[in-house]
Amino acid sequence: MKKIEAIIQTEKLDAVTNALKNIGVGGYTVLSTKGRGSGERPTIRGGRGTVSYVSEYSKGNSVTTIVNDNQVDAVVSAISNAAFTGKSGDGIVFVKDVEDVLNIASKQRGLDAL
Ligand SMILES: Nc1ncnc2c1ncn2[C@@H]1O[C@H](COP(=O)(O)OP(=O)(O)O)[C@@H](O)[C@H]1O
Ligand SMILES: [Mg+2]
Repeated sequence: MKKIEAIIQTEKLDAVTNALKNIGVGGYTVLSTKGRGSGERPTIRGGRGTVSYVSEYSKGNSVTTIVNDNQVDAVVSAISNAAFTGKSGDGIVFVKDVEDVLNIASKQRGLDAL
């Protein structure tokens, strides 16, 4: 099993979660994030254009799902297609190994718990 975590722009959240539902993942978790990538920081203007500053962080959402190994490529493509604009700040996807999963109510383990 693998844990796939995507950090995406908030405007892309519905597109990404719809893509995950279409693939038939067992579930996913959405969190609010703030962070920064290696790219240039966006400049924010205020005071009718009289002041501008560079924001420390960008707000976003993370979407995490645990899937069977044979779903990884499909899930990563679906997320990256749904979140894509082609501009800096589109986000990032991490894939990690998962040793075990327990569904608390059913007590099922591993793939059966997803
Ligand atoms: N190496 C990283 N480790 C953890 N989170 C990251 C990393 N790179 C990017 N992120 C997260 O993804 C968001 C979008 O980053 P990214 O699209 O890579 O922006 P940039 O184009 O500026 O590099 C960041 O605000 C941050 O939350
Ligand atoms: Mg980056």
